[in-house]
Amino acid sequence: MTRVNSKLIYIAIAAIAIIAVVAVLLLNRYQPETEGASNEAEVAGLQTEATDSGNVEAGLNATTAVESATPEPTPEPTPTPEPSVEQDIPSLAETFADYFSIGAAIEPSQTEGLKAELLKKHVNWLVAENVMKPDAMQPTEGNFNWANADRIVAFAKENGMEVRFHTLVWHSQVGAWFFKDAEGKSMVDETDEAKREENKKLLLKRLETHVRKIVERYKNDIHSWDVVNEVIEPGDPDGMRASEWYKITGTDFIETAFRAAREAGGSEAKLYINDYGTDNPAKRDRLYELVKELLDKGVPIDGVGHQTHIDVFGPTVDSIIESMKKFAELGLDNLVTELDMSIYAWNDRTDLSNDIPEELLQKQADRYRELFEAFRANKDIIGGVVFWGIADDHTWLNSFPVTRTNAPFLFDKQLHAKPAFWAVIDPVGTERSS
Ligand code: GLA
Repeated sequence: MTRVNSKLIYIAIAAIAIIAVVAVLLLNRYQPETEGASNEAEVAGLQTEATDSGNVEAGLNATTAVESATPEPTPEPTPTPEPSVEQDIPSLAETFADYFSIGAAIEPSQTEGLKAELLKKHVNWLVAENVMKPDAMQPTEGNFNWANADRIVAFAKENGMEVRFHTLVWHSQVGAWFFKDAEGKSMVDETDEAKREENKKLLLKRLETHVRKIVERYKNDIHSWDVVNEVIEPGDPDGMRASEWYKITGTDFIETAFRAAREAGGSEAKLYINDYGTDNPAKRDRLYELVKELLDKGVPIDGVGHQTHIDVFGPTVDSIIESMKKFAELGLDNLVTELDMSIYAWNDRTDLSNDIPEELLQKQADRYRELFEAFRANKDIIGGVVFWGIADDHTWLNSFPVTRTNAPFLFDKQLHAKPAFWAVIDPVGTERSS
């Protein structure tokens, strides 16, 4: 009996021990994991809040409250938004449809990807930033390079946009071969009168070939042409830029280029003389004098292209419009051909890098508003407004006059609308305040 009893006692003790072990294991398994999960959720929530509000400090303080349960997380910097095309905002071209065309200068690579989407939404006019310049079109004598220019023309056609040509003649970005005589000697250095006359003929012949070949190829696709670019320079003798073109031919190169363009392109082709700083009275008046003289000689000029590379501080909008009115009196069209608005004054060489103050962007918006209000009010004398780019990620002003961050357009580096966009689209602020 004693033996049987003690056996039963052993069995009972073993059973209790097993039950106790199982109970402890079960408790350990569920309790700590539940606690950990709730802490993680709390930390994640606080981090999201901190990031959303941009208040990293608040996020850190709040996280400290639960740090006994979890390791302190490293604060994430506010992420830069990804580039994207905002499809839910108004289109620039549609907004200005009753006023004038809206354009942008592009490189062929921008006919693909996000940039192409942005362009399709906002502009109905394109111009080549570089690939239609003389050195790009005819780098060596007789070798025309059509591929890049064709790409821009094809993209425009596919998307119902027009193209402007920039530029048939310029003193810059032009092959040196134009200005070498038959023996390869620099034409400007020639001292012999007879040889100089021969050189002039050769240069004008080359120019005529250049103009005719290009205009003939694109006359059905392109109706707006910058025939000559930047020929006025008030600081040079006669107020004419002392380029090789001018030194070798006088103003004959201008006349030849316009006449050849008209002959090759017919009356459909609108032919422009393009320049910067046309608001400056000295430059404006010299340009006016030249154009008047050429028109009186029957040279076919249809309009003036005002580049309009301006900045947040100047020149005045009135001076820009006044210049246009002056040319309109000659019966000429006016185009804004290369609009951008630097955030730096013209003689400032500093770099704001990525710390562009909000107030400066607001100042830019106010000035863009004033400018476009004036353009609207003068739509009868303005045929179109072309930006020299479209978004702040790509602009010549990031490397001119020094390498730095500039932000001259209506769209930022992420291709998103800036205060300036809203100021232009919605000047009285009914749709959205800037
Ligand atoms: C001038 C030219 C343009 C372009 C800009 C700078 O305005 O007309 O073709 O080169 O300078 O990019």
